[in-house]
Amino acid sequence: MADLAARRRVAVLISGRGSNLRALIEHCAAADASAEIALVVSDQPNAPGLEHARAAGIRFEIVDQSRRIELERYIKKSIQASDIEIICLAGFMRVLSADFVEAWRDRLLNIHPSLLPAFRGLDTHRRALEAGVRFHGCTVHFVRAEVDAGPIIVQGVLAVRPNDTPETLGARVLALEHRCYPQALEAVTSGRARVVNERVLIDGAMTPETVLLNPAP
Ligand code: GRF
Repeated sequence: MADLAARRRVAVLISGRGSNLRALIEHCAAADASAEIALVVSDQPNAPGLEHARAAGIRFEIVDQSRRIELERYIKKSIQASDIEIICLAGFMRVLSADFVEAWRDRLLNIHPSLLPAFRGLDTHRRALEAGVRFHGCTVHFVRAEVDAGPIIVQGVLAVRPNDTPETLGARVLALEHRCYPQALEAVTSGRARVVNERVLIDGAMTPETVLLNPAP
């Protein structure tokens, strides 16, 4: 069992539903997890995802400042007060400043619903279908100032089906996200992931599943 005191303290930033937050909380409930979700921050007072924090008894803060400079000031205060070491963005719909991102370099993770660098930005599933790609998926990466860019930690890939709609495809990608994000966080908090020349190297036993999650169609 991982020493509870030695677990890395993680904050998760959300804006909405919080299903990735839930997956991260469930992962950290495992006796051998190397992370602990110590704080949840939402920029939306009514984010449904806050319920997951409440249910798990995790401290949460609402930072609904509209100006980015103030929002970031509040986030900084909250994460300092909770001794946070790693931040996970999970459906957090605000763009963080270059200064903030740089201060958390290689300690700030994001999940994006596409195989980056394809389909940065919003509405990824519709755009993937329009482009006619055969494979689609999700990416967990370290955040850089450029939006939806940065060293890739884990990607999950799945085959697009001929009759997929943005909704059916999005639902399968979301299920994949819930597997990829905990895996990426664990690689980081266990100290197995490091960034070398803007590439992520993961030490230890590498099975194909740790870099590519490809569920049967
Ligand atoms: C996910 O699709 C994530 O990839 C994107 O925003 C969505 C958040 O969903 N960044 P949830 O709030 O985690 O359910």
